Amino acid sequence: MRAALLEPAGRPLTLVDDIDVADPGPGDVVVRVHYCGVCHSDLSNVNGTFPAPGPIVLGHEASGVVEAVGPGVTSVAAGDRVIISPIATCGHCYTCLRGDFGVCEQALSVTTGTFIDGSSPLSRGGEVVYRGLGVGGFGEYALVHESAAVKIPDDAPLDAACVIGCSIQTGVGAVLNTAKVEPGSTVLVMGLGGIGIAIVQGARLAGASRIIVSDPLSERRDAAARFGATDAIDPTSDDIVSKVLAITGVGVDYAFEAVGKGALVDQAIWTARPGGMIVMVGAAPITDAVTINPAVMFMASEKKLVGCFLGSCHSRRDIPRLVGLWQSGHLDFEGMITHRRPLAEINEAFADMEAGRGLRTVLALA
Ligand SMILES: NC(=O)c1ccc[n+]([C@@H]2O[C@H](COP(=O)([O-])OP(=O)(O)OC[C@H]3O[C@@H](n4cnc5c(N)ncnc54)[C@H](O)[C@@H]3O)[C@@H](O)[C@H]2O)c1
Ligand SMILES: [Zn+2]
Ligand SMILES: [Zn+2]
Repeated sequence: MRAALLEPAGRPLTLVDDIDVADPGPGDVVVRVHYCGVCHSDLSNVNGTFPAPGPIVLGHEASGVVEAVGPGVTSVAAGDRVIISPIATCGHCYTCLRGDFGVCEQALSVTTGTFIDGSSPLSRGGEVVYRGLGVGGFGEYALVHESAAVKIPDDAPLDAACVIGCSIQTGVGAVLNTAKVEPGSTVLVMGLGGIGIAIVQGARLAGASRIIVSDPLSERRDAAARFGATDAIDPTSDDIVSKVLAITGVGVDYAFEAVGKGALVDQAIWTARPGGMIVMVGAAPITDAVTINPAVMFMASEKKLVGCFLGSCHSRRDIPRLVGLWQSGHLDFEGMITHRRPLAEINEAFADMEAGRGLRTVLALA
Protein backbone atom coordinates (compact mmCIF):
# COMPACT_ATOMS: atom_id res chain seq x y z
CA MET A 1 0.00 0.00 0.00
CA ARG A 2 0.87 3.67 -0.27
CA ALA A 3 1.78 5.52 2.92
CA ALA A 4 3.69 8.47 4.32
CA LEU A 5 6.59 6.96 6.25
CA LEU A 6 8.68 8.45 9.05
CA GLU A 7 12.08 6.73 8.91
CA PRO A 8 14.30 6.45 12.01
CA ALA A 9 16.50 9.19 10.48
CA GLY A 10 13.61 11.66 10.90
CA ARG A 11 12.17 14.37 8.68
CA PRO A 12 10.97 14.78 6.03
CA LEU A 13 8.34 12.04 5.80
CA THR A 14 8.57 10.14 2.51
CA LEU A 15 5.79 8.73 0.35
CA VAL A 16 6.29 5.03 -0.34
CA ASP A 17 4.08 2.48 -2.08
CA ASP A 18 5.55 -0.83 -0.93
CA ILE A 19 4.14 -1.35 2.59
CA ASP A 20 2.67 -4.82 3.16
CA VAL A 21 -0.47 -5.21 5.26
CA ALA A 22 -1.16 -8.55 6.99
CA ASP A 23 -4.39 -10.43 6.31
CA PRO A 24 -6.99 -9.88 9.04
CA GLY A 25 -6.83 -12.51 11.78
CA PRO A 26 -9.66 -13.37 14.19
CA GLY A 27 -11.29 -10.19 15.49
CA ASP A 28 -9.39 -7.92 13.06
CA VAL A 29 -10.80 -5.35 10.66
CA VAL A 30 -9.05 -3.84 7.61
CA VAL A 31 -10.17 -0.30 6.84
CA ARG A 32 -9.52 1.60 3.61
CA VAL A 33 -8.55 4.99 5.02
CA HIS A 34 -10.22 7.95 3.29
CA TYR A 35 -9.22 10.88 5.52
CA CYS A 36 -6.84 11.47 8.42
CA GLY A 37 -6.35 14.62 10.50
CA VAL A 38 -2.93 15.83 11.64
CA CYS A 39 -2.51 16.09 15.42
CA HIS A 40 0.24 17.69 17.50
CA SER A 41 1.03 14.24 18.88
CA ASP A 42 2.09 13.25 15.31
CA LEU A 43 4.28 16.35 15.17
CA SER A 44 5.81 15.42 18.55
CA ASN A 45 6.84 12.07 17.01
CA VAL A 46 8.22 13.80 13.91
CA ASN A 47 10.23 16.47 15.75
CA GLY A 48 11.47 14.10 18.44
CA THR A 49 9.52 15.49 21.42
CA PHE A 50 8.33 11.90 21.85
CA PRO A 51 10.72 9.62 20.01
CA ALA A 52 8.70 6.99 18.08
CA PRO A 53 9.90 3.55 17.04
CA GLY A 54 10.69 3.55 13.33
CA PRO A 55 9.96 3.24 10.54
CA ILE A 56 6.41 4.23 11.42
CA VAL A 57 3.19 5.18 9.63
CA LEU A 58 1.81 7.95 11.87
CA GLY A 59 -1.76 9.35 11.85
CA HIS A 60 -4.44 8.47 14.40
CA GLU A 61 -7.45 10.65 13.47
CA ALA A 62 -8.87 8.64 10.60
CA SER A 63 -12.12 7.70 8.90
CA GLY A 64 -12.72 5.18 6.14
CA VAL A 65 -14.64 2.21 4.82
CA VAL A 66 -14.29 -1.40 5.98
CA GLU A 67 -12.46 -3.39 3.30
CA ALA A 68 -12.39 -6.82 4.94
CA VAL A 69 -13.03 -8.46 8.30
CA GLY A 70 -11.39 -11.44 10.00
CA PRO A 71 -13.16 -14.46 11.48
CA GLY A 72 -15.56 -13.73 14.34
CA VAL A 73 -16.09 -10.02 13.61
CA THR A 74 -19.76 -9.17 14.13
CA SER A 75 -20.07 -5.41 14.72
CA VAL A 76 -18.91 -4.24 11.25
CA ALA A 77 -18.91 -5.65 7.73
CA ALA A 78 -17.23 -4.80 4.41
CA GLY A 79 -18.63 -1.52 3.07
CA ASP A 80 -19.43 0.02 6.49
CA ARG A 81 -18.26 3.57 7.13
CA VAL A 82 -16.15 3.74 10.27
CA ILE A 83 -14.07 5.95 12.51
CA ILE A 84 -10.78 4.31 13.47
CA SER A 85 -10.19 4.92 17.17
CA PRO A 86 -6.81 4.77 18.91
CA ILE A 87 -8.67 3.27 21.90
CA ALA A 88 -9.17 -0.43 21.22
CA THR A 89 -10.66 -1.67 24.48
CA CYS A 90 -10.54 -5.37 25.37
CA GLY A 91 -13.61 -5.26 27.63
CA HIS A 92 -12.29 -7.77 30.16
CA CYS A 93 -9.05 -6.46 31.74
CA TYR A 94 -8.82 -5.06 35.30
CA THR A 95 -9.58 -1.45 34.26
CA CYS A 96 -12.29 -2.32 31.69
CA LEU A 97 -14.17 -4.32 34.34
CA ARG A 98 -14.09 -1.22 36.55
CA GLY A 99 -15.43 1.01 33.78
CA ASP A 100 -12.11 2.76 33.01
CA PHE A 101 -12.09 1.72 29.35
CA GLY A 102 -9.77 4.51 28.16
CA VAL A 103 -6.87 3.09 30.18
CA CYS A 104 -7.53 -0.52 29.17
CA GLU A 105 -4.18 -2.36 29.05
CA GLN A 106 -4.79 -3.18 25.37
CA ALA A 107 -5.64 0.45 24.55
CA LEU A 108 -2.53 1.78 26.32
CA SER A 109 -0.31 -0.57 24.28
CA VAL A 110 -0.88 1.72 21.27
CA THR A 111 1.77 4.07 22.65
CA THR A 112 4.35 1.44 21.58
CA GLY A 113 3.14 1.45 17.96
CA THR A 114 2.28 -2.25 18.18
CA PHE A 115 -0.47 -4.56 19.38
CA ILE A 116 -0.22 -5.70 23.00
CA ASP A 117 1.73 -8.80 21.91
CA GLY A 118 4.41 -6.57 20.33
CA SER A 119 3.43 -7.34 16.73
CA SER A 120 2.54 -4.94 13.92
CA PRO A 121 0.41 -5.77 10.88
CA LEU A 122 2.62 -3.58 8.67
CA SER A 123 5.96 -4.49 7.14
CA ARG A 124 8.26 -3.38 4.31
CA GLY A 125 10.62 -5.78 2.59
CA GLY A 126 10.11 -8.15 5.52
CA GLU A 127 11.04 -5.51 8.16
CA VAL A 128 8.49 -4.41 10.76
CA VAL A 129 6.77 -1.04 10.27
CA TYR A 130 5.11 0.55 13.33
CA ARG A 131 1.78 2.44 13.45
CA GLY A 132 1.05 5.75 15.16
CA LEU A 133 -1.19 5.13 18.21
CA GLY A 134 -2.18 1.74 16.81
CA VAL A 135 -3.89 3.32 13.78
CA GLY A 136 -1.43 4.35 11.05
CA GLY A 137 -3.92 6.65 9.32
CA PHE A 138 -1.31 8.15 6.97
CA GLY A 139 -1.46 4.87 5.02
CA GLU A 140 -4.11 3.56 2.63
CA TYR A 141 -5.11 0.60 4.82
CA ALA A 142 -5.30 0.21 8.59
CA LEU A 143 -5.64 -3.16 10.30
CA VAL A 144 -7.16 -2.76 13.77
CA HIS A 145 -9.02 -4.73 16.40
CA GLU A 146 -12.79 -4.75 15.94
CA SER A 147 -13.30 -2.47 18.98
CA ALA A 148 -11.26 0.25 17.22
CA ALA A 149 -13.42 0.36 14.06
CA VAL A 150 -16.64 2.07 15.07
CA LYS A 151 -19.50 2.21 12.59
CA ILE A 152 -21.05 5.59 11.79
CA PRO A 153 -24.21 6.35 9.80
CA ASP A 154 -24.08 6.36 5.99
CA ASP A 155 -25.09 10.04 5.95
CA ALA A 156 -22.13 11.16 8.09
CA PRO A 157 -19.54 12.71 5.72
CA LEU A 158 -16.19 10.94 6.20
CA ASP A 159 -14.17 14.06 5.37
CA ALA A 160 -15.35 15.85 8.52
CA ALA A 161 -16.08 12.85 10.74
CA CYS A 162 -12.39 11.89 10.96
CA VAL A 163 -11.74 14.55 13.62
CA ILE A 164 -13.76 12.44 16.07
CA GLY A 165 -10.88 9.93 16.19
CA CYS A 166 -8.56 12.13 18.24
CA SER A 167 -9.49 15.78 18.79
CA ILE A 168 -13.21 15.33 19.42
CA GLN A 169 -12.92 12.18 21.52
CA THR A 170 -10.08 13.79 23.50
CA GLY A 171 -11.46 17.32 23.92
CA VAL A 172 -15.17 16.66 24.32
CA GLY A 173 -14.39 13.50 26.31
CA ALA A 174 -12.11 15.49 28.66
CA VAL A 175 -15.11 17.65 29.55
CA LEU A 176 -17.92 15.07 29.61
CA ASN A 177 -16.07 11.92 30.76
CA THR A 178 -12.90 12.93 32.60
CA ALA A 179 -14.02 16.13 34.36
CA LYS A 180 -17.83 15.69 34.17
CA VAL A 181 -18.35 19.47 33.97
CA GLU A 182 -21.76 20.52 35.34
CA PRO A 183 -24.04 23.22 33.86
CA GLY A 184 -23.11 26.69 35.12
CA SER A 185 -19.46 25.81 35.76
CA THR A 186 -16.54 28.08 34.94
CA VAL A 187 -13.83 26.63 32.70
CA LEU A 188 -10.33 27.63 31.57
CA VAL A 189 -8.80 26.18 28.39
CA MET A 190 -5.06 26.75 27.86
CA GLY A 191 -4.01 26.09 24.24
CA LEU A 192 -6.41 26.39 21.31
CA GLY A 193 -5.35 23.85 18.70
CA GLY A 194 -7.69 21.07 17.61
CA ILE A 195 -7.69 19.68 21.15
CA GLY A 196 -8.32 22.98 22.95
CA ILE A 197 -11.09 23.99 20.53
CA ALA A 198 -12.77 20.61 21.09
CA ILE A 199 -12.58 21.24 24.86
CA VAL A 200 -14.25 24.64 24.29
CA GLN A 201 -17.00 22.88 22.31
CA GLY A 202 -17.41 20.31 25.09
CA ALA A 203 -17.63 23.04 27.72
CA ARG A 204 -20.33 24.85 25.76
CA LEU A 205 -22.22 21.58 25.38
CA ALA A 206 -21.95 20.94 29.13
CA GLY A 207 -23.52 24.34 29.82
CA ALA A 208 -20.45 26.11 31.22
CA SER A 209 -21.33 29.69 32.12
CA ARG A 210 -17.84 31.05 31.54
CA ILE A 211 -15.30 29.62 29.09
CA ILE A 212 -12.00 31.45 29.46
CA VAL A 213 -9.36 30.66 26.85
CA SER A 214 -5.65 31.35 26.53
CA ASP A 215 -3.35 31.13 23.50
CA PRO A 216 -0.56 33.40 22.23
CA LEU A 217 -2.12 33.34 18.73
CA SER A 218 -4.84 35.97 18.31
CA GLU A 219 -6.44 34.09 15.35
CA ARG A 220 -6.94 31.07 17.59
CA ARG A 221 -8.43 33.17 20.39
CA ASP A 222 -10.84 34.63 17.79
CA ALA A 223 -11.67 31.13 16.54
CA ALA A 224 -12.38 30.01 20.12
CA ALA A 225 -14.91 32.82 20.50
CA ARG A 226 -16.83 31.40 17.52
CA PHE A 227 -16.94 28.03 19.31
CA GLY A 228 -18.30 29.48 22.57
CA ALA A 229 -15.40 31.06 24.50
CA THR A 230 -16.57 34.02 26.62
CA ASP A 231 -13.22 35.54 27.67
CA ALA A 232 -9.77 35.45 26.06
CA ILE A 233 -6.32 35.88 27.58
CA ASP A 234 -3.06 36.53 25.72
CA PRO A 235 -0.48 34.71 27.87
CA THR A 236 2.34 36.73 26.32
CA SER A 237 1.01 39.97 27.79
CA ASP A 238 -1.16 38.92 30.76
CA ASP A 239 -0.49 36.87 33.86
CA ILE A 240 -2.93 34.02 33.47
CA VAL A 241 -3.43 33.33 37.19
CA SER A 242 -4.27 36.90 38.19
CA LYS A 243 -6.41 37.40 35.08
CA VAL A 244 -8.48 34.26 35.80
CA LEU A 245 -8.89 35.33 39.44
CA ALA A 246 -9.98 38.79 38.30
CA ILE A 247 -12.63 37.32 35.97
CA THR A 248 -14.00 34.67 38.36
CA GLY A 249 -13.26 36.05 41.82
CA VAL A 250 -12.31 32.59 43.17
CA GLY A 251 -10.68 30.72 40.29
CA VAL A 252 -12.27 28.38 37.76
CA ASP A 253 -14.14 25.19 38.58
CA TYR A 254 -12.19 23.35 35.85
CA ALA A 255 -8.83 24.21 34.24
CA PHE A 256 -7.75 22.24 31.16
CA GLU A 257 -4.13 22.29 29.96
CA ALA A 258 -4.12 21.51 26.20
CA VAL A 259 -0.66 22.73 25.18
CA GLY A 260 1.67 20.02 26.49
CA LYS A 261 4.00 21.85 28.94
CA GLY A 262 4.55 20.81 32.54
CA ALA A 263 5.09 24.45 33.59
CA LEU A 264 1.63 25.37 32.30
CA VAL A 265 0.06 22.66 34.48
CA ASP A 266 1.84 24.33 37.44
CA GLN A 267 0.07 27.57 36.47
CA ALA A 268 -3.27 25.86 35.85
CA ILE A 269 -3.22 24.55 39.43
CA TRP A 270 -3.30 28.14 40.74
CA THR A 271 -6.08 29.19 38.35
CA ALA A 272 -8.48 26.60 39.85
CA ARG A 273 -10.73 27.53 42.77
CA PRO A 274 -10.44 25.70 46.09
CA GLY A 275 -11.96 22.27 45.44
CA GLY A 276 -11.57 22.78 41.67
CA MET A 277 -10.16 20.36 39.12
CA ILE A 278 -7.11 20.61 36.85
CA VAL A 279 -7.14 18.30 33.84
CA MET A 280 -3.88 17.45 32.03
CA VAL A 281 -4.76 16.92 28.35
CA GLY A 282 -1.64 18.24 26.65
CA ALA A 283 1.15 15.71 26.20
CA ALA A 284 4.29 17.26 27.71
CA PRO A 285 7.80 16.10 26.72
CA ILE A 286 9.04 13.15 28.78
CA THR A 287 11.57 15.44 30.48
CA ASP A 288 8.90 17.83 31.84
CA ALA A 289 7.72 17.66 35.47
CA VAL A 290 4.73 19.15 37.26
CA THR A 291 5.59 21.06 40.43
CA ILE A 292 3.07 21.71 43.19
CA ASN A 293 4.55 24.47 45.28
CA PRO A 294 3.66 24.98 48.09
CA ALA A 295 2.31 21.44 48.41
CA VAL A 296 0.49 22.22 51.64
CA MET A 297 -1.71 24.78 49.86
CA PHE A 298 -2.76 22.10 47.37
CA MET A 299 -3.65 19.82 50.29
CA ALA A 300 -5.57 22.47 52.18
CA SER A 301 -7.46 23.69 49.10
CA GLU A 302 -8.63 20.18 48.12
CA LYS A 303 -7.82 20.62 44.44
CA LYS A 304 -7.91 17.63 42.12
CA LEU A 305 -5.25 17.08 39.46
CA VAL A 306 -6.25 14.43 36.89
CA GLY A 307 -4.74 13.00 33.72
CA CYS A 308 -6.78 12.54 30.57
CA PHE A 309 -5.85 10.05 27.84
CA LEU A 310 -8.03 10.46 24.73
CA GLY A 311 -10.92 11.87 26.74
CA SER A 312 -11.44 8.78 28.92
CA CYS A 313 -13.57 7.52 26.03
CA HIS A 314 -15.11 4.15 25.44
CA SER A 315 -15.17 4.54 21.68
CA ARG A 316 -18.05 2.18 20.93
CA ARG A 317 -20.18 4.07 23.43
CA ASP A 318 -18.92 7.58 22.74
CA ILE A 319 -18.38 7.79 18.96
CA PRO A 320 -22.07 7.21 18.07
CA ARG A 321 -22.97 9.74 20.78
CA LEU A 322 -20.51 12.32 19.37
CA VAL A 323 -21.80 11.76 15.81
CA GLY A 324 -25.34 12.33 17.10
CA LEU A 325 -24.31 15.59 18.79
CA TRP A 326 -22.65 16.70 15.52
CA GLN A 327 -25.62 15.79 13.33
CA SER A 328 -28.00 17.59 15.69
CA GLY A 329 -25.86 20.75 15.51
CA HIS A 330 -24.45 20.63 19.06
CA LEU A 331 -20.87 20.03 17.87
CA ASP A 332 -19.15 21.61 14.85
CA PHE A 333 -16.51 19.49 13.12
CA GLU A 334 -16.38 21.32 9.77
CA GLY A 335 -15.43 24.61 11.45
CA MET A 336 -12.35 22.99 13.01
CA ILE A 337 -10.93 21.90 9.65
CA THR A 338 -9.18 24.88 8.08
CA HIS A 339 -6.89 23.06 5.64
CA ARG A 340 -7.38 20.07 3.35
CA ARG A 341 -4.45 18.54 1.52
CA PRO A 342 -3.61 15.33 -0.35
CA LEU A 343 -1.39 12.86 1.57
CA ALA A 344 1.54 13.94 -0.63
CA GLU A 345 1.53 17.33 1.15
CA ILE A 346 1.98 15.89 4.64
CA ASN A 347 5.25 17.76 5.28
CA GLU A 348 3.52 21.05 4.43
CA ALA A 349 0.75 20.12 6.90
CA PHE A 350 3.32 19.73 9.69
CA ALA A 351 4.90 23.05 8.73
CA ASP A 352 1.45 24.70 9.01
CA MET A 353 0.99 23.24 12.50
CA GLU A 354 4.41 24.45 13.65
CA ALA A 355 3.66 27.94 12.34
CA GLY A 356 0.18 27.96 13.94
CA ARG A 357 -1.52 28.43 10.53
CA GLY A 358 -5.20 27.45 10.64
CA LEU A 359 -6.59 24.94 13.15
CA ARG A 360 -6.69 21.38 11.88
CA THR A 361 -5.44 19.93 8.57
CA VAL A 362 -7.17 16.87 7.14
CA LEU A 363 -5.25 14.77 4.62
CA ALA A 364 -7.15 12.93 1.86
CA LEU A 365 -6.02 9.40 1.03
CA ALA A 366 -8.80 7.96 -1.12
N1 LIG B 1 -4.41 13.60 26.17
C1 LIG B 1 -4.48 13.07 24.97
O1 LIG B 1 -4.93 11.94 24.81
C2 LIG B 1 -4.07 13.86 23.78
C3 LIG B 1 -4.65 13.61 22.53
C4 LIG B 1 -4.27 14.40 21.44
C5 LIG B 1 -3.35 15.40 21.59
N2 LIG B 1 -2.77 15.59 22.82
C6 LIG B 1 -1.81 16.68 23.05
O2 LIG B 1 -2.55 17.87 23.21
C7 LIG B 1 -1.72 18.99 22.89
C8 LIG B 1 -2.44 19.89 21.89
O3 LIG B 1 -2.59 19.22 20.64
P1 LIG B 1 -3.14 20.04 19.36
O4 LIG B 1 -3.19 19.05 18.24
O5 LIG B 1 -4.34 20.82 19.72
O6 LIG B 1 -1.87 21.02 19.14
P2 LIG B 1 -1.75 22.41 18.33
O7 LIG B 1 -0.30 22.57 18.04
O8 LIG B 1 -2.71 22.46 17.21
O9 LIG B 1 -2.19 23.51 19.42
C9 LIG B 1 -1.44 23.85 20.54
C10 LIG B 1 -1.77 25.31 20.89
O10 LIG B 1 -1.11 25.68 22.11
C11 LIG B 1 -0.79 27.06 21.99
N3 LIG B 1 0.18 27.47 23.02
C12 LIG B 1 1.53 27.42 22.96
N4 LIG B 1 2.05 27.94 24.11
C13 LIG B 1 1.01 28.33 24.89
C14 LIG B 1 0.90 28.96 26.17
N5 LIG B 1 1.98 29.28 26.89
N6 LIG B 1 -0.34 29.23 26.65
C15 LIG B 1 -1.45 28.92 25.93
N7 LIG B 1 -1.40 28.33 24.70
C16 LIG B 1 -0.19 28.04 24.19
C17 LIG B 1 -0.29 27.16 20.56
O11 LIG B 1 -0.27 28.51 20.11
C18 LIG B 1 -1.31 26.31 19.83
O12 LIG B 1 -2.42 27.09 19.40
C19 LIG B 1 -0.41 18.38 22.37
O13 LIG B 1 0.51 18.31 23.46
C20 LIG B 1 -0.83 16.99 21.94
O14 LIG B 1 0.25 16.09 21.91
C21 LIG B 1 -3.13 14.86 23.91
ZN1 LIG C 1 -4.01 13.13 18.58
ZN1 LIG D 1 -9.40 -3.77 28.79
